[in-house]
Amino acid sequence: MDNPFVYGEVVPARAFADRAVELDRLIADLAAGQKIFLISPRRYGKSSLVRHALAGMARRGALTVEVTVSSFSSYVAFLEGYARAIVGAESRWDRARAWLRETIRSARPEIRDAGAGARPGLPVVSFPAVRTARDASRLAQEVFALPAALAAARRRRVAVALDEFQAIAGFNGGSVEHAMRAAVQHQREVGYVFAGSEPSLMERMLEPRRPFYKAGPVMRLEKIPAGDFVAFVEARFSKTGIRPEAGLGAAIVELGGNLPYDVQRLAHETWDEVRRAGRRRATLDDLHAALRRLLAEQQTLHEALWQRLTLPQRAVLRAVVLEDGRELLSADARTRHRLGGASSVQASLVALVRQGVAARDGDRYVVVDSLLREWVARRTY
Ligand SMILES: Nc1ncnc2c1ncn2[C@@H]1O[C@H](COP(=O)(O)OP(=O)(O)O)[C@@H](O)[C@H]1O
Ligand SMILES: [Mg+2]
Repeated sequence: MDNPFVYGEVVPARAFADRAVELDRLIADLAAGQKIFLISPRRYGKSSLVRHALAGMARRGALTVEVTVSSFSSYVAFLEGYARAIVGAESRWDRARAWLRETIRSARPEIRDAGAGARPGLPVVSFPAVRTARDASRLAQEVFALPAALAAARRRRVAVALDEFQAIAGFNGGSVEHAMRAAVQHQREVGYVFAGSEPSLMERMLEPRRPFYKAGPVMRLEKIPAGDFVAFVEARFSKTGIRPEAGLGAAIVELGGNLPYDVQRLAHETWDEVRRAGRRRATLDDLHAALRRLLAEQQTLHEALWQRLTLPQRAVLRAVVLEDGRELLSADARTRHRLGGASSVQASLVALVRQGVAARDGDRYVVVDSLLREWVARRTY
């Protein structure tokens, strides 16, 4: 029996919880050729949601394209990867090859078979003649026009997902945003979802005077409601023949800070714990054993992170953990944790948030990674 909980990758259908409303909306918007912005911190489930939406679009006969913008080391590498992904949506790649040569006029693409190991038929696209920033800009205009050309050539709808889209800003300053916006706004047959993990960067991209201002609907992905997630976790245990002790689902969701990734990680490791022992009942003790094992595995990572922080940041991080993130600027909390002045606490909080270590959650601060939170509570002083 396979572990029903999945983390660290896009979740397959069997491990996908809730999100029915978001999924319907995303599919409907993509089918209508909208340009959607999907925003949340990391590990909330954007990529998983996008993958399922694209699968839904494919079932409706659309061609789909998916690219993770942050995985490229340069602008030209991104353009090559994007062109490759678009060509990959065409199942007959002799046709794709001819089509790409016709469509890209500025840069003469080189297209070759990726060879063994790669997805059969998915060619590698490169633009060796592109040298200068101007060449790249010219090429970008043509590459960004490709999805519409594909839709026209195949008389099919096209859905494009650009994941970790905030990374686009690193390539070529504002000009990429302009070029992308200019290209996509008239592509009526093509739906786009721009998913981004750094909410502050993504929100800034949508401000007035920026190219993507009012380009399309914005979806802010929230955490999965705790009640739904608890029911989901317990149902998966039961379905795989393991009876969860009363309160186990709630404990997992609570300990995981209700973050989809963290909840799945704890559930996965707890399930393993029970399975390894050959038992049919999962208890809170199993959860704690799994947590101890995870903490041991992550020990070096946590130490490295801790060492990168300044002393005031470490003290504030401990206070976030011990005070449950509340009232950190109060004289009381500052005295109890020897934090110094309110403005310095504020500065440390800002730094921790910027580094993605902490986040604001309503009226309090939380440590984003629940394992780090537990490690700070147990191993730092
Ligand atoms: N709908 C979901 N149901 C259950 N778990 C989910 C769901 N979405 C995400 N997860 C969990 O969170 C992890 C991170 O999801 P991912 O889609 O990669 O997030 P993001 O792209 O926002 O960083 C997944 O590996 C999975 O464990
Ligand atoms: Mg992602």
